[in-house]
Amino acid sequence: MRTLVITGAGVSAESGIPTFRGKDGYWRNLDPAKLATPEAFANDPKLVWEWYRERRERIRNAQPNPAHQAIVKLAAHADEFLLVTQNVDDLHLRAESEGQRLSREKIVQIHGDIFEARCSRCDWSRQEQEEEEEEGNVPQCPECGELMRPGVVWFGEQLDPRKIGRVENYLARGLCDVVIVAGTTAAFGYIIDWALRARDQDGQLIEVNPDPTPLSGFATHLIREPAGRALPQLVDELLAT
Ligand code: OAD
Repeated sequence: MRTLVITGAGVSAESGIPTFRGKDGYWRNLDPAKLATPEAFANDPKLVWEWYRERRERIRNAQPNPAHQAIVKLAAHADEFLLVTQNVDDLHLRAESEGQRLSREKIVQIHGDIFEARCSRCDWSRQEQEEEEEEGNVPQCPECGELMRPGVVWFGEQLDPRKIGRVENYLARGLCDVVIVAGTTAAFGYIIDWALRARDQDGQLIEVNPDPTPLSGFATHLIREPAGRALPQLVDELLAT
């Protein structure tokens, strides 16, 4: 079985991480233009860091849920597997199934990694541990002295071409018997494009989401349930066939 799984914020919702566009989503109360754009960072880097540090804290205190675990199980048993996640949290990487975790080559964090800090001018980057974070501080690049920024993709920015390349390579190597799209509003064209292009003519496109999305009309199976309930059952069914 060759599989592609695409996830979004809904998969981490049951771990207590807010989504972006849902009822209690970040973008209901906060203006993305003030927090998640290069212009916002240029205007007020301290405010932007404050928001990302709050989110990091919440993620550190959260635990992976059965949806993350089920995806690790699928990865361990499928012949070929890639997870493309829009989530910047590390819950997919921390999740375990049968004592195993997802290896880095099986996951593409297409919108970046919230625990990375990278220079806004040069290529320098690092993973930040809790103890390295100073409240109210905007870190500076040890190489060039420019301000460091969170290692995530902001509105108006390009995706990392190396990450696009990893997804495209996977698609080029063969079509998928199973494509699962879980917990995302599929708001971006590239997410819809990858989901549709990955599926083999006879393959399944399975959407796991309590609410409809632009992909719903193309899905061969719709599971209108929370991912933490739906994915463990779905993965067991797929592995039994
Ligand atoms: P959204 O907040 O747009 O969508 C979350 C989706 O999860 C919605 O379709 C919900 O119906 C669904 N959902 C909520 N709870 C769920 C649950 N328990 N199980 C399954 N589904 C559930 O989040 P994303 O689609 O991930 O980008 O958003 C995409 C990108 O937009 C994010 O990566 C972020 C944001 O702006 C950047 O920061 C670049």
